[in-house]
Amino acid sequence: MSDQQRQRPLIYLAGFMGSGKSTIGPILANTLGFPFVDVDQLIQQRAGRSINAIFSELGEQGFRAIEQDVLKNVSAMENGVVSLGGGTLANEENFRLIHERGLIVYLRVSSEEAARRMRNKTDRPLLHDGEGNRLDEASLKRRVEELMKRREEFYNRADVIVAAEHKRVGVTVDEIVRHLRLLTRL
Ligand code: S3P
Repeated sequence: MSDQQRQRPLIYLAGFMGSGKSTIGPILANTLGFPFVDVDQLIQQRAGRSINAIFSELGEQGFRAIEQDVLKNVSAMENGVVSLGGGTLANEENFRLIHERGLIVYLRVSSEEAARRMRNKTDRPLLHDGEGNRLDEASLKRRVEELMKRREEFYNRADVIVAAEHKRVGVTVDEIVRHLRLLTRL
């Protein structure tokens, strides 16, 4: 770990859709006395439209370009907690930047749990069919498993890995803080 990571920590929360990044992020930031930013929120602000609209108008590629730009901006912050999108880390260039600038915390949930949490959501275009319709349960489970399999190699390179299911949010936050204090001068 570089001195920069130790002294001026940016904490990036990574994990699959539904792993709790956007819930845990603000609480963790509050606990550490850091500012909080959410990459998905910034993407929507930047584009002036929802993630669904970005995907349907610009495609996934267009979305990923905005995402990378937002990531570069937030990575220039001195310190803070950054909730990534589920796919942000799963790109070598993004991974390099994130790893260089801070510490990665992976909130791990099983594919069953992620699919369960995403069952009634309508704002995750990667979990819809081509027409934007919700997937049936079996197809959703397959899609989640496929995506997770591709992404695990990135997620598993995190500095801290925390099991984020069957647990209260506060317990997960305490666990993350404990790990971070061992790794940094927080
Ligand atoms: C995505 C996850 C979403 C959002 C977009 C793409 C992904 O964020 O960035 O729909 O590729 O897994 P959450 O993980 O916050 O749902």
